[in-house]
Amino acid sequence: MAEIVLHELVKTYPGGTSRATDAVSLHVPDGEFMVLLGPSGCGKTTLLRMVAGLELPDSGQIVIGGRDVTYLEPRRRNLSMVFQSYAVFPNKNVADNIGFGLRVHGVPADQVRRKVEWAADLLQLRPYLDRYPAKLSGGQRQRVAVARAIVMDADVLLMDEPLSNLDALLRLSFRAELKKLVGELGTTTLYVTHDQVEALSLGDRVAVMREGRIAQVGAPTAVYDEPADEFVGGFLGSPPMNFLTGTVGGDGDEPRIDFGGQSLPLPGYLRSYRGKTLKLGIRPEAIAVESGDGDGLRCELRVFEPLGSSTLLTTELCGQVLKVSAPPSFRADPGARLRLRPLPGQCRWYDPETQLLLEER
Ligand SMILES: Nc1ncnc2c1ncn2[C@@H]1O[C@H](COP(=O)(O)OP(=O)(O)OP(=O)(O)O)[C@@H](O)[C@H]1O
Ligand SMILES: [Mg+2]
Repeated sequence: MAEIVLHELVKTYPGGTSRATDAVSLHVPDGEFMVLLGPSGCGKTTLLRMVAGLELPDSGQIVIGGRDVTYLEPRRRNLSMVFQSYAVFPNKNVADNIGFGLRVHGVPADQVRRKVEWAADLLQLRPYLDRYPAKLSGGQRQRVAVARAIVMDADVLLMDEPLSNLDALLRLSFRAELKKLVGELGTTTLYVTHDQVEALSLGDRVAVMREGRIAQVGAPTAVYDEPADEFVGGFLGSPPMNFLTGTVGGDGDEPRIDFGGQSLPLPGYLRSYRGKTLKLGIRPEAIAVESGDGDGLRCELRVFEPLGSSTLLTTELCGQVLKVSAPPSFRADPGARLRLRPLPGQCRWYDPETQLLLEER
């Protein structure tokens, strides 16, 4: 096992107009499962391929287990890879596919067999060891690719969207299997996905990427609960975080934010924003909703969508749209007047210019 340290990795492809990765630095401690998450084209695969040695950076450094591997050949980096397109050998059966890398490394046949059986048990492939890939399902083929990667006892496991070719149900069950497996192996893992649910469910930590840079690194709950900027808040969550623009007023030590006739108290550390605008960031499920008169921000219901486990409300508050996730038992008709109250401790505040989270210092 080994830690991974990436230092200011810059990569520009020939003819590329912008940097595929733009001075990316990241520290993955020994044994951590780190997920790289971000929209298509943000540089996830490029970063992974540089760690693997399949691409060379223009500048920067890659250190694995204390060894500078930046310009080392892939096979000398002691890592295993699983890619999106499950690269299994069609002319080898499952057992030979799983054991291929070991045999290439000259591992004795009886040891190969033991390791293949160990991996096959972990990934529930025992019944298929004699089968050829053409007669396997997509999920089974993908498990073969994972099995082949884990038998190598590599320091580092690299996975690029390994579940994306699976259907939704298979993805769900394989995701849980993979989490258990990697937890047991304790191998340092870099895992690429653009699926936020996968990222939050699998990662010890998640690095959210945007346009070749890392926007935020943190535990899944941290990046979800306290997005460092509007991009992260808007990328994570379904529906994503709401952002409402308001003007800061109020008097003395009690600043308030006004959304156009309706206001909320602001924490005191934001009093210096008086006279300026701020954005409230709040998750749809962090808002309590009620019908009828009383306290709270008054809004009008525009769309009512029952989703089974919850009900999604699209509301309008002083001309701004706010999505609210209500309990499945909640009933109201479009046009109804509702009252909203942010749950305690759930408001986040963003500077409209920098789009950065404003934290108390
Ligand atoms: N071989 C290449 N030649 C030129 N440009 C490339 C090459 N590979 C990637 N790029 C560009 O580099 C940027 C980052 O691509 P990359 O494949 O790393 O993104 P990604 O985050 O993995 O996206 P996806 O989620 O779609 O797989 C993109 O703008 C892409 O167009
Ligand atoms: Mg990719």
